[in-house]
Amino acid sequence: MHTPWDHRYAQRTQRMVSSAIRELLKLTEQPDIISFGGGLPGADVFPIAEFREACDRVLLENGPQALQYSTTEGYAPLREQIARHTSRYAIQIGPENIMITSGSQQALDLLGRIFINHGDRILVESPTYLGALQAWAAYGAEYVTVPMDKQGMNTDALEEALRTGPKFIYVLPNFQNPTGVTLSLERRKRLVELADRYGVPIIEDDPYGQLRYEGEHLPSVVALDDEYRANSEAYYHGNVIYLSTFSKILAPGLRLAWVVAPPEVIRKLVQAKQGADLHTATFNQVVAYEVSRGGFLDQHAKLICRVYKERRDVMLAAMDRHFPPEVDWTQPAGGLFLWGTMPEYLNAADVLSEAIQQKVAFVPGGPFHPNGGGQNTMRLNFSYATPDKIMEGIARLGQVLKSRVKEPA
Ligand SMILES: Cc1ncc(COP(=O)(O)O)c(C=O)c1O
Repeated sequence: MHTPWDHRYAQRTQRMVSSAIRELLKLTEQPDIISFGGGLPGADVFPIAEFREACDRVLLENGPQALQYSTTEGYAPLREQIARHTSRYAIQIGPENIMITSGSQQALDLLGRIFINHGDRILVESPTYLGALQAWAAYGAEYVTVPMDKQGMNTDALEEALRTGPKFIYVLPNFQNPTGVTLSLERRKRLVELADRYGVPIIEDDPYGQLRYEGEHLPSVVALDDEYRANSEAYYHGNVIYLSTFSKILAPGLRLAWVVAPPEVIRKLVQAKQGADLHTATFNQVVAYEVSRGGFLDQHAKLICRVYKERRDVMLAAMDRHFPPEVDWTQPAGGLFLWGTMPEYLNAADVLSEAIQQKVAFVPGGPFHPNGGGQNTMRLNFSYATPDKIMEGIARLGQVLKSRVKEPA
């Protein structure tokens, strides 16, 4: 329909594209489709009873504050809690290093707003998180990519990419979205060393760090960076901006996450956030603080890990059984996703349309590659569907793949 707004859109909207994932999620709302498409946590692990109690308590004891406007930086007790948590397992920080955001997605957008000029190059893994590419498209980002393999970002290719003068490096070291791959310790150290040598700062996006199903926790890039700089005060140095979120360990519907950055950067982010939404919902912050007090998060993370580990194992076993040998996939040690690679002659979008007819869905991997490629790749989510649905869905997908592999185009 013609509207008076048709010729009034800002130029930047030309670079905004709707996410393939969102479009797909619409399709998978049909109840009979088994979807491995979205990045959804399992709704059966949401701590609903704890939320109900916390809401009651907050409204009884703290109602006027919880329903009022609050500061852009975020609810002070929550920031203090996050600072204590971060200081315990990673780096020494205080509340002045933290801003609460409406999801890490908003943090990515605000970081784009304060750092990215039109045409700036950002160094990313390929493939990388689609939501970051989407957020930064509006600011005119260009990408220099470093390929991923099963040890994460290939740091042998990093130096050449750094020579192009990127503004910052964006890295997802733990159970990366989309591949599920974890950056090895050796490569984390190499990344820190090379970033320092070329004077390029890092944004570390870590929504899944607490969802590890096997093996030892690896130190975050932000912690290794501090160590590398032999930081004598043992206090956060600031070369790495660190993002994490309550979406995967509590509930994504809260839209609650945090940024760790030097106080100067926090001040800029606060200015940007004021323009965006004044502050993140006070009520959600106060309730999340109530729910997560007293060690609940650690305890709840254990439950989530148990449930998701089972789902991952079921998916991997079903893939072993039903997928043709021409398809290869990652073995994630945590997180929500694994990544399949089909023979080059197969196109994941074509496979998807056939899969949807068989009532199973996944996300084609192409759009996760900012500079193209990966048409034969796919992301599969294992946290959302129940084990019996996972078995059924993978069997269906295996059939589709087998028929395709037999008949190369
Ligand atoms: C790597 C990565 N960053 C950021 C986000 C956004 O998370 P949030 O729900 O906190 O906005 C996601 C969500 O899936 C993600 O995978």
